[in-house]
Amino acid sequence: MAEEAKNNGGDHAAVVAAGHGSVGAGAGTAVIPSDAVQNPGLPPHRKRVTDLDPKKEKSAERTVYTLFYLSIAGSLGAVLAYMFFPIETGELLAIRLHTMFVGLGMALALLAVGIGAVHWGKAIMADHESVDYRHPVASDTPTREASAEVFKLADEESGFSRRSLVRNSLIGALIAFPLPGITLLRGLGPQDRDPVELAHHTMWAEGVRLARDPSGVPIKASEVTIGSAFHVIPETLNHEDFEKMTLDERGGSVHLLDAKAKAIVLLMRLNQEDLRELPERKDWSYDGIVAYSKVCTHVGCPVALYEQHTHHLLCPCHQSQFDVSEHAKVIFGPAKRPLPQLPITVDDEGYLVAQSDFHEPVGPSFWERLK
Ligand code: FES
Repeated sequence: MAEEAKNNGGDHAAVVAAGHGSVGAGAGTAVIPSDAVQNPGLPPHRKRVTDLDPKKEKSAERTVYTLFYLSIAGSLGAVLAYMFFPIETGELLAIRLHTMFVGLGMALALLAVGIGAVHWGKAIMADHESVDYRHPVASDTPTREASAEVFKLADEESGFSRRSLVRNSLIGALIAFPLPGITLLRGLGPQDRDPVELAHHTMWAEGVRLARDPSGVPIKASEVTIGSAFHVIPETLNHEDFEKMTLDERGGSVHLLDAKAKAIVLLMRLNQEDLRELPERKDWSYDGIVAYSKVCTHVGCPVALYEQHTHHLLCPCHQSQFDVSEHAKVIFGPAKRPLPQLPITVDDEGYLVAQSDFHEPVGPSFWERLK
């Protein structure tokens, strides 16, 4: 029996490493049995079909280089798709085709190179087991002492600790250095309008019909059945109408897609008795139909998943959940405020229309704090 006993802090605790049967261990002694499970070792090596049959090996090789060629074709296809399906026109169809073909090309390129590499490793590369034993990662004591000496010497020679003014001004310079880069980010925002003000306005206005996204077909209240959900845009969100609008009517957005990103809405119908509306919003819904901004109040992803039994909306980005039956309040996740509600009603022909723009900024809570 291998035995090791240590006194712990002069007290009576002791540890004994023992084989089976700890005969002789005194009362109050912790016994650690030696490992009862023997290392089973590696199972016998089984050769692959490509090791046994040269024809199979050749075929595997062909598969691998075919996949790599496919990957090259995918990459070139993505470049060609970028050139032949430009997005400069800003039309939705053009953007869809561009995204689809560039995406398909890149997916093929990545998938084929990945599968090819895995197949190469599994079927052709040398197949033998090897054991890599662990070893301590720390350097030995003399090496560590030598390193500490080098640091000490460098400190003495540079005067880093001694010359505090030089050291502190260097630290200040390094902190200030990234500031110009951060300042440049301002260039990404709107140049001539206050971004906070812009977040307050969208294309919605009194009388604008709610239309299906992306067809732009206006929605009648009678078409919205209980439990259904519609992805909605303003009916005026099309190139023809958009071109004629003033910047204010566009909600401050120069480009159609920017305007859409701010104005998208989700429309749902609940049983009237399931709706627990705020008193001041009693007339913002129509016969159980409610409309909320689709832009998540966390960091702006589209809140696109609706669970009709629970009336919960889920943002797939970071799992924020909003309860539609209770003015879209946050019930889970990192979002900090409810989704803004769009007040709606119906016009003479029974089409759903907005009563006004949103009453608060859409999108991340950052804008809310700057109100
Ligand atoms: S953007 Fe919706 S939860 Fe983060």
